[in-house]
Amino acid sequence: KKYILDLVVTQNIKLHANYVLIKMTQANPLPEMLPGQFAEIRIDGSNTTFLRRPISINYVDKKTNEVWFLVQLVGDGTRKLATVKQGDIVNVVMPLGNGFTIPKDVTAFKPLLVGGGVGTAPMLMLGVELAKAGCKPTFLLGARSSKDLLQLKEFEKLGEVYTTTEDGSMGEQGYVTGHSLLNNNSFNMIYTCGPKPMMVSVAKYAKANGIECEVSLENMMACGVGACLCCVENTDEGHLCVCKDGPVFNIKKLLW
Ligand code: FES
Repeated sequence: KKYILDLVVTQNIKLHANYVLIKMTQANPLPEMLPGQFAEIRIDGSNTTFLRRPISINYVDKKTNEVWFLVQLVGDGTRKLATVKQGDIVNVVMPLGNGFTIPKDVTAFKPLLVGGGVGTAPMLMLGVELAKAGCKPTFLLGARSSKDLLQLKEFEKLGEVYTTTEDGSMGEQGYVTGHSLLNNNSFNMIYTCGPKPMMVSVAKYAKANGIECEVSLENMMACGVGACLCCVENTDEGHLCVCKDGPVFNIKKLLW
């Protein structure tokens, strides 16, 4: 079930020139949310009457009743959103989409969570939920440079963290799929979110090694509810909407 909520901004933290972490709350308990789900956040004050931006759910803090959104400043909408201040009201439709699959029995479950750029955002909540379920997630996070690797401290609380940067400023130089961790491993599940070329190569690696894999697609979205069809992805069941049927897909379904 999705809700249209007027949330109150509790914090807007600038993580680095291009990213902010916005925390929001409401008087009532927030709805249940699954890792991988997203919200459509309304951006007020733009030229059109309003527009919404899909932003993945980064984390839900049950103790403080806050939901976290990691926002990358990519265009006018997100730049506008990044200016919200404590106390501002933001209209949010959530939770949308499906979530990542967490098995009931996690004995012998060895998940690897691969995130690239702002695609690391849903990996935090997923890591938290996996840890709660009783397994120890391993993270492989990639970005252009060390300053684009966000929330590392949060990830380190949950499991081992490996990094790659394109400029070599942190971790191994290159892309996540070239990391030495992948040479010799016993992972039996890979979850990934990030730029499409990265996810395609992660999916290829998983396929080649017989590892189960779920990807969270970030196709262009507008309506967020399956009405405009601008987010379709080709699957073994034909065209599916990433916003409604996804954003999480098992790679077996995708025609990559
Ligand atoms: Fe409109 Fe998916 S964003 S159908």
